[in-house]
This record gives sequence, C-alpha cells and structure tokens, in this order.
Amino acid sequence: MSIRAVLFDVFGTLLDVHSIRARADELFPGQGMRLSQLWREKQLEYTRLRTIGSRYANFTQVTEDALQYACEALALPLDAAARGLLMHEYTQLSPHPDTVPALKRLQEHGVTIGILSNGDQALLEDVLHGAQLADYFDVLLSADQVHAFKPAPSLYELGPLTLKHPAHDLLHVSSNCWDAIGAKWYGYVTFWVNRGGAPVDRLSTAPDASGASLDEAVSFFLQQRKH
Ligand code: LAC
Repeated sequence: MSIRAVLFDVFGTLLDVHSIRARADELFPGQGMRLSQLWREKQLEYTRLRTIGSRYANFTQVTEDALQYACEALALPLDAAARGLLMHEYTQLSPHPDTVPALKRLQEHGVTIGILSNGDQALLEDVLHGAQLADYFDVLLSADQVHAFKPAPSLYELGPLTLKHPAHDLLHVSSNCWDAIGAKWYGYVTFWVNRGGAPVDRLSTAPDASGASLDEAVSFFLQQRKH
C-alpha cells in the first residue's frame, strides 16, 4: 500500500455538528441537545431519501428542511428569526479539539489534503472559513458536483477522478462509521474516527482502521505511506 493523499469528511469529523447546541439552548431552553440530535438525524435521512429517489436538493436546503421538521416534531416554535440564527450557526460550527493539530501535522509532512463531503460548495467554503481551516485543503469535493449524497459511489468517485490516483491509494477519514464503510465499498483505504466508542455499523465490511482521534488517523496515514 502506498497512500498518496487524505480526504476528510467534514460534518462530525472535522467540525462538531452539535456545537449549535448552545444557540439552540438559548432559543429553546433545555431543548438544545434534543433538537441538535433530531436535526442531524433528519438531515442525514433526507440526504439518503433524496439520493435514493433521485430528488437532489443541496445540503443547505436539506439542513433547513430537517431543522423545520425537528422543531415541529419537538413542538418548538421556529420563527423566521430563530431559523435564520440556527442556519447561520450551521455555517459557524466549531472544529473538534483534535482537528487543527492533525491538519498541521499532515501539512508539515507535505501531504495532499482534501475534503469529500455532502456539503455544497458555498456551505463548505463558509464553514471551513468560519473555523479557520480553509487554508489546509488542496481540493474540496462536494455532493453538489454529482447531485448525490453519501454513500453514492458517484460522490466517492470524485476522489480518484480529481486526485488522479486509484481509490486504494487514497485514505478516507470519517467519524461517521457508515461513511467510512461507504468509502471502503468504493475502494478507498478507510479510517474511522470513533470518538465516542460506538459499535461498528453492520454493513458486511469494516473500516480498515479506527481510533479515538484524528491524531491516530494521521499516525495511520504516516505508517501506511512508508510501505
Ligand atoms: C459529510 C457528512 C457525512 O460531511 O457528515 O459528508
């Protein structure tokens, strides 16, 4: 194996999708965590339904639709101002504490680093800029380019097409186990960042490696690169 580049998932992996919780708690006291969880769950469900049914709408739209559903389901009154604030919050997600050190370490080793995400280009630019991460990446690959969300093969295919290396020479890193497995189905070498000690998804195969932090993902990459 000789891995040439690393592609990162964004939401959950580099950025903490639950960092919107504080704002949600201000708007709906005591409900921040429940809202954040249902919002994320519905967001992912809508990405999959729209992909299966060939009814693509971009990630920002899907995220707003999921927010509206989640608030109604939890009987939280979402007026236009609250919706605007929460959607803005989604462009300002905080990086996980291990994100910047891991990206710096890769950069010091001169590694080609990219993004492979469900996010649309405008949202990706906003969130990466907001988290001061934009300068680390050589390529941004987005669901918007293929009008399909993960785990659609057409989205994972953007990696080899853009980086001009076969998938088995690319490392895909995600904290979403099903995403790491989706990339593995496509043929990538995959690392699952399992910060919460979750069980592995039962989808007939498993990520090539896993660990509790992005730092471990970087160590895995540097080890594999030597081979
Ligand atoms: C993404 C989702 C899977 O960033 O978190 O693509």
